[in-house]
Amino acid sequence: MARRKKIYEGKAKILYEGPEPGTLVQYFKDDATAFNAEKKATIEGKGVLNNRLSEYFMTGLNAIGVPTHFIKRINMREQLIRAVEIIPLEIIVRNFAAGSMAKRLGLEEGAALPRPIVEFSYKDDKLGDPLVPEEYIIAFGWASQQDMDDIVALALRVNDFLSGVMYGVGIKLVDFKIEIGRVYDGDYMRLVVADEISPDSCRLWDIKTGQKLDKDVFRRDLGNLTDAYTEVARRLGVLPSNVTHATKPTLIN
Ligand code: TMP
Repeated sequence: MARRKKIYEGKAKILYEGPEPGTLVQYFKDDATAFNAEKKATIEGKGVLNNRLSEYFMTGLNAIGVPTHFIKRINMREQLIRAVEIIPLEIIVRNFAAGSMAKRLGLEEGAALPRPIVEFSYKDDKLGDPLVPEEYIIAFGWASQQDMDDIVALALRVNDFLSGVMYGVGIKLVDFKIEIGRVYDGDYMRLVVADEISPDSCRLWDIKTGQKLDKDVFRRDLGNLTDAYTEVARRLGVLPSNVTHATKPTLIN
């Protein structure tokens, strides 16, 4: 097969030129990084799971009227997406204190927040994605006030959708990160959810046991990351049918 032209390579994904103008192919790698790529590993199967899980969440969002860049999954590791102009922000929504917020404010991990809190980091690896107030975003022209209002509204809709979906399978959505891009239809600009939604970019805790089922398993050396992501995929019913995690032959009656 002729190799497509690579447009961009990030830490966990590669973007290739798509089959038609305005489209891209998003390839999910098995690479995992944490702490701004200070910690790195290749985790077999992670890309396949994240491709499926991101497809699942983006398809659901599209279905309830939250626009995303997702068009369709192509194969085990690739999906067809709309090319967007990424706004250089990580949009983080938190329902419970954890991670950098718990650390910054001295809060206990897992403490319920009074309401969902939306915060923004400026996407720049060299600077370590610093937290930025909305004031900076508007003053530096990364997004307008109208964009920010729309971004917060989108982020809260994603939060309600994902929280509900995860609650349905016994998982608490502690927090997550999304990225948002601009799509131009003639003179008209629309904001759409872009990048990926997967256990790489969420905190997911089992409601009963509190077991972590997200990238913190890798960040904090808590066990096998693929097992955690497989559990999320299994509960949602999106395990790839031709991947078996059985360690010995299983008899089918
Ligand atoms: P934090 O508590 O480390 O700030 O992370 C908040 C959420 O954002 C958590 O669900 C993990 C996710 N996240 C990313 O997806 N990418 C990142 O680079 C970071 C720092 C966090």
